[in-house]
Amino acid sequence: MKKITSFLSLALFVSFLLTGCSGSQQPKVTENVYPVIPKPVKMEPQKGRFLFTGDTRIIYYPGNDELQDIGEFLSGLVSRPVDFTVAVMPADENVSEPNTVFFSLDTTLDLNDEGYLLNIDTRAIEIKAKTPQGIFYGVQTLRQLLPPQVEGQAKMDAAALSVPCVKIEDQPRFAYRGLHLDVGRHFFSKDFILRYLDLMALYKYNTFHWHLTEDQGWRIEIKKYPELTKVGSCRKETLVGHWGGKKKYEYDGKEYCGYYTQEDVKEVVAHAKDLYITVIPEIEMPGHSLAALASYPQLGCTGGPYEVATHWGVFKDIYCAGNDSTFKFLEDVLTEVMELFPSHYIHIGGDEAPKDRWKKCPKCQARIKAEGLKDEEELQSYFISRIEKFLNAHGRDIIGWDEILQGGLAPHATVMSWRGIKGGIAAAKMHHDVIMTPGSYCYFDHYQADPKKEPLAIGGYLPLEKVYSYEPVPKELSPEEQKYILGAQGNVWTEYMATPDYVEYMVYPRACALAEVDWTPAGEKDYDDFQQRLKGNLEHLKAMGVNYRPLGNDEKTMKK
Ligand code: ACM
Ligand code: ZN
Repeated sequence: MKKITSFLSLALFVSFLLTGCSGSQQPKVTENVYPVIPKPVKMEPQKGRFLFTGDTRIIYYPGNDELQDIGEFLSGLVSRPVDFTVAVMPADENVSEPNTVFFSLDTTLDLNDEGYLLNIDTRAIEIKAKTPQGIFYGVQTLRQLLPPQVEGQAKMDAAALSVPCVKIEDQPRFAYRGLHLDVGRHFFSKDFILRYLDLMALYKYNTFHWHLTEDQGWRIEIKKYPELTKVGSCRKETLVGHWGGKKKYEYDGKEYCGYYTQEDVKEVVAHAKDLYITVIPEIEMPGHSLAALASYPQLGCTGGPYEVATHWGVFKDIYCAGNDSTFKFLEDVLTEVMELFPSHYIHIGGDEAPKDRWKKCPKCQARIKAEGLKDEEELQSYFISRIEKFLNAHGRDIIGWDEILQGGLAPHATVMSWRGIKGGIAAAKMHHDVIMTPGSYCYFDHYQADPKKEPLAIGGYLPLEKVYSYEPVPKELSPEEQKYILGAQGNVWTEYMATPDYVEYMVYPRACALAEVDWTPAGEKDYDDFQQRLKGNLEHLKAMGVNYRPLGNDEKTMKK
């Protein structure tokens, strides 16, 4: 049976070679479409299509396990829906052969380390890059050119397993291309996180910012402090409906729990690595820490008791900055975190930390005096700088939300600018690296259309086109200062997203638009063209069962 299959495949291939692009089962040349997102830097459509058959081989520059893994990934994708398996093998020579997909590494290419060249002709496919990561991105582009059925569960007609011929030269604009997920307000299973990463990889995101600790839940197992998950990972109930503007609040009366074991975390980090995604963990301090304080009340200024939060907002109880045991605790936690996450950066939060308790706390006031600090803002700066010093000593750098600018920026900190772009501008002018996540363009918890017609969200209005229009480099910066803008990130706060389906609804297709902001040169962006590509591209997400928001109907008619 195998022989017959391979004979048929060979016959099909020979007939394809003979008929080329005008073969009877092939779509017409004029039908070639290229639904690639983010848009490649240079893309030259060509005539004809390359057809995968049972004789197609994926061959790779020998001696590189990563290339073999990428080959297996591609083979799995194209083989699953048909009755043959595309073989993966090392190349005999550094040249492509007929009916192959050839991965080759060339460090002399005039591209950055994440760039690639993809050449599809009717005879063969070649992907060249300086690094395996570049090859991986070439494969993601190839994946988007394949029929969407490759992403689904059903079988397909092998005669349709083809890609349009094209010449692509591509590389990212920004080195940091991020997507965030808050698992504190709502917890999402490890399997959902793995899927979140898979989708990110399809759009060439390279950083996952995992917001792991919150007032409403501590979500990561820390062996030295078991109460964090025993107590801190559960809240007794959850607010029903919207938090804002109510006289009386309603709660659901249901306990809500969840956390990732260290084994879960290792699996997520390993899967991300396979997808060339760095996972940056966020351990919030000094604010958004009620779940930690509920677990270890001695870490707060008043000594508690505290309760894991059951509603949303900003809470006055934060870590005590006058207490040395706070720093011991955080250093111990960060030590375990560093063992789990190889990322160069550790995000330490820093946002929304009211100073009410510090103002009244004798220990915090004594710290201000002893350190010669001016006020509580400088005490926050002392707090963050002390943690930075600890992480720097372990070879890591911190990222903090833009509030860390107040009271003086820690010497090596990277700033995540979320309250608009001012924080980003200020940090770049001080020659600190910056990641842009301004709420008005990058907050995927905002409404995508008229709130009257949408599921409940936190507020705001961020339709697809507005995400697409975002320019991460503020014009206020000089060319020298612009270099400190590492890239942009989409933030996904989950107060009002209780299910994976709803997260996908809020993230896609806005994350497709932001992927293009991060990757494509500003001058190459074109919203009409993006929309055309998106239509075909979304068919891939549909095949994967992603609950993306359908296009259109995103006007906001309601007054603000
Ligand atoms: C934030 O949105 N509080 C960073
Ligand atoms: Zn205190």
